[in-house]
Amino acid sequence: MSGQPRKPSETNPLADLDEWEDFLLERYPEPEKADAFRDYGDNVRPGVREFYRLNHTHQTFEFVRAKEDEFLGKSRRKMGIWEAMEFLNTLVDDSDPDTELTQIEHLMQTAEAVRADGHPRWFILTGLIHDLGKILCLWGEPQWAVVGDTFPVGCRYSDKIVFHDYFDANPDSKNPEYQTPTGVYEPNCGLDKVHMSWGHDEYLYHVVKDYLPDEALAMIRYHSFYPAHREGAYAELMSEDDQRKLAWVRKFNPYDLYSKGEAPPDVAKLKPFYQELIAEYFPAQIDW
Ligand SMILES: [Fe+2]
Ligand SMILES: [Fe+2]
Repeated sequence: MSGQPRKPSETNPLADLDEWEDFLLERYPEPEKADAFRDYGDNVRPGVREFYRLNHTHQTFEFVRAKEDEFLGKSRRKMGIWEAMEFLNTLVDDSDPDTELTQIEHLMQTAEAVRADGHPRWFILTGLIHDLGKILCLWGEPQWAVVGDTFPVGCRYSDKIVFHDYFDANPDSKNPEYQTPTGVYEPNCGLDKVHMSWGHDEYLYHVVKDYLPDEALAMIRYHSFYPAHREGAYAELMSEDDQRKLAWVRKFNPYDLYSKGEAPPDVAKLKPFYQELIAEYFPAQIDW
């Protein structure tokens, strides 16, 4: 069933999708755990480096438009949210079965951390579903088109994007129309009009956009847009409303990144609570 190879390969250099997230943690450690003298650049694992090389080389404007055409018709499957969580959980890896969380555990752990801080129910639900777009992997998409920090295509690549040099190999970097600060877009046109590099964020946004409040949708759509929400890049494309939305994305980000160290949640025990929460916002099945 799984389209995801069990061992790193030329197309999928990461041991598993979590390896990208582990690298995010090295770059953006929890403030109280940050070591001022450590530079993540020193010991980036070769698989992670290769992953970014592939991502930056192949995420062209044309590639993104083609993936939007391929997936945004949402004609692959009808599934409920819980069913999608179980489907995503089949994305197993054998890197370290004793310490790695399953996909459901990561989702629930994120949701539980949001819940513990007393946030609204839609915010908890957002934590629960935010990575469901990773099922793209199960449909045979390569890692570099599912995860990774996202960025706008069709305009200049911000030098705040990690491993920026790898963009030299992207054919769009030779296209002058795509290499001005706002490229094919009007200044401050709003992120909604901007095509983002293709991955699990954009895909899931389109799957759930009819069911959740704006703030939740922003968290889902831009949670991997580290160049903007962590580095402050791309203000020239944003509307005033985007700045408000990014504040929500920033609020969400620590739950995603920093809830992993906590004890794994008791999935069976929590399932009824989350099924009720899902039913509050979603019909029994939605289009994927
Ligand atoms: Fe994610
Ligand atoms: Fe996540």
